[in-house]
Amino acid sequence: MPVSPIPHEAVRAVVVVGSARDGRLAPDIARWLADQTDGRDDLVTDVVDLADALLPATLDAGDPRTAALRPRLAAADAFVFIVPEYNRSVPGPLKTLIDSFNEEWQAKPVGFVGYGLGMAGGVRAVEHLRQIFAEFHCVGLKDTVGFPRVLEHYDAEGRFPADAEAAAAAAKVMLDQLVWWGRVLRDAKKLRPYGA
Ligand SMILES: Cc1cc2nc3c(=O)[nH]c(=O)nc-3n(C[C@H](O)[C@H](O)[C@H](O)COP(=O)(O)O)c2cc1C
Repeated sequence: MPVSPIPHEAVRAVVVVGSARDGRLAPDIARWLADQTDGRDDLVTDVVDLADALLPATLDAGDPRTAALRPRLAAADAFVFIVPEYNRSVPGPLKTLIDSFNEEWQAKPVGFVGYGLGMAGGVRAVEHLRQIFAEFHCVGLKDTVGFPRVLEHYDAEGRFPADAEAAAAAAKVMLDQLVWWGRVLRDAKKLRPYGA
């Protein structure tokens, strides 16, 4: 499928929804993040949901699912990972998705939205992702968005997140950084291809 053109100055970000589990909370977080990105004219998003993009653990580059995802990731100027914490790290299928590609990630900014049940839920998953993306010469954004004790971020009516104002402010900081780095690295790579 061809990747559609976007306004000149806008940054194209792939948002990866990092859980594929039955009964997952990930769609709530993804919906909220879409609300934060939709109103921005400096950002165009393409959502890759792990539930639709489970890739073979054999890292078969010729697998049709892997091949279908490749141009979407390659076209991105930036990435945002919505990542739940599983056993103090990232979900296995998400690691497989990351391991299935290489140049597609390279020298791009990566933002993080982490969550988990525990007090530090999401923090360790995000920090592991940051280490992983160092391998691809990526810029891991300093400011992250976090929903530790994620169940406490639902209000009495089940709306997420309960403190919408604080969450939106955190998202704005992260997305502003994503756009800045996305533009700068895209422009720099046009001038001088990344040669690591
Ligand atoms: C296999 C597994 C391991 C988990 N390990 C942790 C953990 O180490 N720390 C934590 O805070 N929450 C942990 N949790 C709780 C998840 O972060 C929480 O259930 C979250 O909702 C998972 O995201 P999802 O519902 O979108 O899959 C774990 C959940 C699962 C399924």
